[in-house]
Amino acid sequence: MPESVKACRTQEAKAMAKGPVWVTGAGGLIGHHLLQQSPENRQVVGWLRQDLDLLDFKRVDRFFERDTPSAIIHCAAMSKSPQCEAQPEEAHAINVAATAHLAQLAETIPFFFLSTDLVFDGEKGFYLEDDSPNPLNTYARTKCEAEALVAKNPNHTIIRTSLNGGISPTGDRGFNEQIRAVLQAGKPVSLFVDEFRSPLPAIVMALALWEMLDQGLTGLYHLCGSQRLSRHAIGKRLNQRWGYDPSLLKSTSLASYDGPPRAPDTTLDCSKLQALLSFPLPGFESWLENHPEMPF
Ligand SMILES: NC(=O)c1ccc[n+]([C@@H]2O[C@H](COP(=O)([O-])OP(=O)(O)OC[C@H]3O[C@@H](n4cnc5c(N)ncnc54)[C@H](OP(=O)(O)O)[C@@H]3O)[C@@H](O)[C@H]2O)c1
Repeated sequence: MPESVKACRTQEAKAMAKGPVWVTGAGGLIGHHLLQQSPENRQVVGWLRQDLDLLDFKRVDRFFERDTPSAIIHCAAMSKSPQCEAQPEEAHAINVAATAHLAQLAETIPFFFLSTDLVFDGEKGFYLEDDSPNPLNTYARTKCEAEALVAKNPNHTIIRTSLNGGISPTGDRGFNEQIRAVLQAGKPVSLFVDEFRSPLPAIVMALALWEMLDQGLTGLYHLCGSQRLSRHAIGKRLNQRWGYDPSLLKSTSLASYDGPPRAPDTTLDCSKLQALLSFPLPGFESWLENHPEMPF
């Protein structure tokens, strides 16, 4: 198609796309926070799996035609590595095929795809957007494959994030909820002292995503907390807030671990996005300190 016709079609589509912003995965941790933080000037539709299974492509097409969404923030996924390892075909279906389908529908509108720090093998840390991915597990491979499909459209946006914490509708999606459930049951929890992440409260993630949409940012961005912490340090800091028996928090090391491959340090360098955001991406500990009122 000639460039002039393409540009004309894009403008027409933009003019038509007055509909709501679609948020997929609204029953999950980040999607839920996106709905809670949605700006007043935005009409937003949050999709739960029970209302729209994203693998039912015909139904997705029908709803898309009905709503003519003005943008899609795609959070739905099989987001836990062990589940993806156990169900690789299902992981591929939602993480890759459903993403490709939505991206195709969203050809002429903003499409935000949430990806992960786990696209990296964790040998280096402080990864930049143009560092080469080397995914170690099924979850990360599906995300990498989906990234490549989304990246074909220069008007679309890929956001890689790290551990997000907060209270999810099901009470079990945030890393904080998972650690807390074990401690609350009076059981010990072992956390790596030498596996590093840059955790971010999901509420901050949501605020940043809305701002990115407002700014019309396209391309690839890293979005996570500004503090590098080991999993053990994260658990310890959270338990200072909760006050469970500290002896239940055990340290363990990747050196003595013999399970599926793990990425030791997937901290992300977020300076590209930070330069564009109106607020500083917080360090995890300082955010907790400054928000004692927030359930976490
Ligand atoms: N949270 C993190 O720490 C983190 C870190 C890096 C990247 N990410 C990425 O960020 C995105 C959002 O993460 P999250 O933590 O909010 O994930 P989440 O809590 O697991 O939520 C994902 C949501 O997707 C829904 N879903 C799965 N399959 C679906 C289908 N076929 N049709 C419709 N909905 C479906 C799930 O429904 P059910 O509840 O019914 O399963 C769930 O509500 C994901 O792409 C994830 O990979 C998250």
